[in-house]
Amino acid sequence: MKLHRTEEIWLILSVGVLILSMVITGYQTFALGMGPPSNTETIDPQKVDETAPFDNPGVFEIGDNEYEVVMTLQAFGFSPNQIEVPVGAEVHFTMTSKDVVHGFQVPGTNLNAMVMPGHIQKISQTFNEPGEYLILCNEYCGAGHQVMSTTITVK
Ligand code: CUA
Repeated sequence: MKLHRTEEIWLILSVGVLILSMVITGYQTFALGMGPPSNTETIDPQKVDETAPFDNPGVFEIGDNEYEVVMTLQAFGFSPNQIEVPVGAEVHFTMTSKDVVHGFQVPGTNLNAMVMPGHIQKISQTFNEPGEYLILCNEYCGAGHQVMSTTITVK
């Protein structure tokens, strides 16, 4: 059997595109660390209040203008409720849910995460502009979903 010349070209092109996309995906996942999270930390969702660090939610200075916000999400609020950090602070959010799936989104930034009961979610952001940043729950979580919000004050 003999292939047409054009058939041969398209065959080579399609296999080439397939290999190229696998190489790009592999490079992003393993070299750039952009793969989906795996082996994430888990927590007993029934015992969030007794499990460190979630037994003491709050804003903690952990380095030079570097902060950790230990946060629990529950129907229909965020703890801590008020967050204040200086301009230029690098903020690491460590979060879990005490009941159902909630969302954590700060419009205007790259902060957007799903926070699930039984899982610990970690996400970081540097705030270079002063202002009031709105934190929204973007996963429907019940009757009070639309009022589930808080703010981060950067000054
Ligand atoms: Cu929490 Cu919607």
